[in-house]
Amino acid sequence: MNGRTSPGSPGDPLWYKDAIFYELHVKAFRDGNGDGMGDFKGLVSRLDYLKELGVDCLWILPMYPSPFRDDGYDIADYYSIHPQYGTMDDFREFLDAAHERGLRVITELVVNHTSDQHPWFQEARQSTDNPRRDWYVWSDTDDRYRGVRIIFLDTEMSNWSWDPVSKAYYWHRFFSHQPDLNFDNPAVREEMWNVMRFWLDMGVDGFRVDAVPYLIEREGTSCENLPETHDVLRFLRERLETHYPGRMLLAEANMWPEDVRPYFGEGDEFHMAFHFPIMPRMFMALRLEDRKPLVEIIERTPEIPAGCQWGIFLRNHDELTLEMVTDEERDYMYQEYARDRVARINLGIRRRLAPLLEGDRRKIELLNGLLLSLPGSPFLYYGDEIGMGDNVYLGDRNGVRTPMQWNGGWNGGFSDADPEQIYQPLISNPVYGYQAVNVDSQRRTPHSLLHWMRRIIQIRQTARAFGRGDIRFLKPANHRILAYLRTYEKETILVVNNLAGTAQAGELDLKDLEGAIPIEMFGGSPFPRIGELPYLLTMAPYQFHWFKLRWL
Ligand code: GLC
Repeated sequence: MNGRTSPGSPGDPLWYKDAIFYELHVKAFRDGNGDGMGDFKGLVSRLDYLKELGVDCLWILPMYPSPFRDDGYDIADYYSIHPQYGTMDDFREFLDAAHERGLRVITELVVNHTSDQHPWFQEARQSTDNPRRDWYVWSDTDDRYRGVRIIFLDTEMSNWSWDPVSKAYYWHRFFSHQPDLNFDNPAVREEMWNVMRFWLDMGVDGFRVDAVPYLIEREGTSCENLPETHDVLRFLRERLETHYPGRMLLAEANMWPEDVRPYFGEGDEFHMAFHFPIMPRMFMALRLEDRKPLVEIIERTPEIPAGCQWGIFLRNHDELTLEMVTDEERDYMYQEYARDRVARINLGIRRRLAPLLEGDRRKIELLNGLLLSLPGSPFLYYGDEIGMGDNVYLGDRNGVRTPMQWNGGWNGGFSDADPEQIYQPLISNPVYGYQAVNVDSQRRTPHSLLHWMRRIIQIRQTARAFGRGDIRFLKPANHRILAYLRTYEKETILVVNNLAGTAQAGELDLKDLEGAIPIEMFGGSPFPRIGELPYLLTMAPYQFHWFKLRWL
């Protein structure tokens, strides 16, 4: 297992700190057998594209057998591949093909709940003395754990559902067809470890662990982030560390940074965790033309252990969640980014990056520039590198999960099937449709977003300070300018962003860097040497600069 090819610095156990991640759905990427659904064979045929883009690690959304009532997050068997995505051999072939190209792969570990179709639940509901009964959380009444919030507000009325078969209520934090596993039961913990081992033996490089705050329930609490939940996570990490060092665990905990901090433990829980609250604040700062929301959230983010890393993102397969903002901020975000109510779902906005930014290339570049230069490892969402659109009319969060647009031909190059057979329609409107927005045409246009994304990724890869460095904000009087220094060992990067849609000037206090020459990283041009006086930069609307500082 240890001898295989790995990207970046081979064998570096901290590889995830320098990695750029790419999130994709097998279903949506490329259909290799013409049945209208993406599959591993199709994905293999597109690995060179991903390599060319320059990403380091793929995050594959759930690929297991599932009734697909939550797009695969409702797992019916943890030990195999959904037949429409291919066979276990197809998966192995994919993993090898990715590794051969130096791409790592993390998969999805849905620990909190299973599908109600899972044989474990089917057995558990048979009778109250079934050996599997205690694998789930049951109750005779639906008034235990009162006050625990409901996450899927638009569809669920309660966290308890009645099981007519065994005549009891079962607990679920998400859809009612996703009963929560009972992690107080040691057999459940052991089984999750077996699941992990199974995929680690096959060679996956780690897991994105779904919905971690909700593993354990206790009366009188919010049933979130409980100490006993951390016990479970430490147990899994310890096993991983002992048997598979160098693999990575990434937590999905949609919480405030101070509540996510414990998921890193003393470096003995997760290697990585998503930083949820940064995400809406990038959009907010842009709309407000003010750096304040971003500076505030980053400055209130606690330090994390040396081996740990944040994951940051602009968009993903879910709604642009507005759980981690105040009520006023949420109103503002809805007002500015989802005036049309159909774009809203639960506490969020179901739209992709390009339409959220009104297709404005300058804003798309600026936000990607932030994503790739703020602390943490960036996660790109498939299709956003070409500025794909969405379809809010598809229900749930499906509008941001449409087929990848490869070319302007039949089904956008996604599949040879009849269009009616595609798992859901391609985007086909004149602005974002596959005829207008696709990989092929962007490959042929030197100034396309795709080429630009490749370039910025390449540039980020030339400096370790982005992934590993600390951050210090410079606070020029002009609050439309967001400027920071990223420093790692001897390397210092100066990043300056104009959040405004108008030209701006910023005077940066760089006294302590006097004598350094800022080298603009996209073109390599030297800028005037930093002196004693404030460093003056004039910036076009939504412009940003990355400079590497050079001392002669
Ligand atoms: C996570 C996933 C989301 C899913 C939910 C329930 O939040 O990101 O897509 O619906 O878990 O499994």
